[in-house]
Amino acid sequence: MANKNLHQAKDSKKDEFYTQLADIERELKHYKDHFKGKVVYCNCDDPRVSKFFHYFSYGFEDLGLKKLMATCYKSQQMDLFSQNNAEQAIYLEYEGDKNGNFIPDAEEIGIKPLKGDGDFRSEESIALLKQADIVVTNPPFSLFREYVAQLIEHDKKFLIIGSMNAITYKEIFRLVKEDKLWFGASIKSGDREFGVPNDYPLNAVGSRIDESGNKFIRVKGVRWFTNLDYDERHEDLVLYKKYTPEEYPKYDNFDAINVDKTKDIPADYEGYIGVPITFMDKYNPAQFEIVKFRKGDDDKDLCINGKPPYFRIIVKNKKLLTHPKEE
Ligand SMILES: C[S@@+](CC[C@H](N)C(=O)[O-])C[C@H]1O[C@@H](n2cnc3c(N)ncnc32)[C@H](O)[C@@H]1O
Repeated sequence: MANKNLHQAKDSKKDEFYTQLADIERELKHYKDHFKGKVVYCNCDDPRVSKFFHYFSYGFEDLGLKKLMATCYKSQQMDLFSQNNAEQAIYLEYEGDKNGNFIPDAEEIGIKPLKGDGDFRSEESIALLKQADIVVTNPPFSLFREYVAQLIEHDKKFLIIGSMNAITYKEIFRLVKEDKLWFGASIKSGDREFGVPNDYPLNAVGSRIDESGNKFIRVKGVRWFTNLDYDERHEDLVLYKKYTPEEYPKYDNFDAINVDKTKDIPADYEGYIGVPITFMDKYNPAQFEIVKFRKGDDDKDLCINGKPPYFRIIVKNKKLLTHPKEE
């Protein structure tokens, strides 16, 4: 039992990563046109600390928002909110600057206690979700599948942060394949820094404490997930390699060639191609078709000479299909 509690504590702690304002700004600048006249909902965000709330409240007029809503989940990290009413989940509403100073002042922000704990799946939160046009946040990663399923069920536009590995979940991959979800514009590689609660163990490489005692940790493999369109995702990936059977072996259990680095996709290969997940950083739906994921014809993991490679996405070059060689 003690062990179970420990695991639960660790798991809930894994959900407490606070997004930095600079990362939010770097991503959001690609979508400015989408926000005009829209209701934005940050549903995993304590507005007292969330940089998402900060970004949208300070940028309210610039973005031309109609309304901003935020709800917080009852805090599991008392220390972070110790000066605040930690156990109380709250709902917050902002409809723009009223006194002409273009700053979201306390008296312009409506703060209401929630009856429940602010869980994004609660009735109260779903009622707010229904009013929203676009949901923007960094949701709890442990509930990522459920979180995305709810957004899809309610037919919402969204821009959320998660681990790129989430596209290996079959529910998420299905959305990617159907072009209902894609990676956002600003994070294509490397790691990103997130704030963490004060009692977070800081033994990881790249963790730090700033001069005010705030703790941060660098996280690898972070991506934005969205169904908001942006220009760069319609740019073709420039391919320069030529196919040779020696350089591109086929899988034992699927008629596709294996490619280890996205940039090495052969420009002239018309058949199926297995590419790493990082391909999604360069994916243009007009250039490639996503066919399937990970498994061969025998429904086992793709392998070459009996050895499975990493997860692979099977794709096909659409441009070669529409302009066959013989034409
Ligand atoms: C990764 S953190 C990000 C926090 C904030 N959105 C940000 O980006 O700074 C996820 C947050 O979701 C909260 N959370 C956990 N479970 C939740 C739930 N069921 N409903 C709503 N929020 C939840 C966590 O307490 C945590 O603060």
